[in-house]
Amino acid sequence: HGVPGTAKERTFIAVKPDGVQRGLVSDIIGRFERRGYKLVGLKLLVPSKALANEHYADLSKKPFFAGLVDYMTNGKAPVIGMVWEGPSVISQGRVMLGATDPKAAGPGTIRGDYCLSIGRNICHGSDSAESAEKEIGLWFGGKGEIVNWAANNDEWV
Ligand code: TYD
Repeated sequence: HGVPGTAKERTFIAVKPDGVQRGLVSDIIGRFERRGYKLVGLKLLVPSKALANEHYADLSKKPFFAGLVDYMTNGKAPVIGMVWEGPSVISQGRVMLGATDPKAAGPGTIRGDYCLSIGRNICHGSDSAESAEKEIGLWFGGKGEIVNWAANNDEWV
């Protein structure tokens, strides 16, 4: 699932159901593409409760947990799950998303540009190498779902 600290570092980025409903998928993908990161995994799905519970297992005791899992899994809109690869993509992915609470997210970040509510913050990004490893394994299990390919990132003048 990637090699943290190298150009092969990988992270799990998702567009949550409100982001998909609002038509923000292409913007979010575009920001990572233009930054120079490489898309190596992409799927659209309504996640199962089991997947969402495991994805957010660390938050299972929080008062907002049930609502968070319902929002992710109720099927009113699907989720886009992605694996992005490149230098410092885990930490830079978080910078590009902006703070968890959009009201604290800076302008120019995805959340800072497009949302206001912590419960509808339109995107997710792994917060550490350990989380990235876990989340990529959870969301991308199948053979061939992650593709190694040669981007032109090293060829820019
Ligand atoms: P968390 O893992 O703390 O943040 P992040 O998504 O930035 O890694 O929380 C997961 C999600 O839970 C968060 O994106 C939105 C939701 N959430 C709430 O609805 N209320 C809250 O008070 C918090 C902290 C999070």
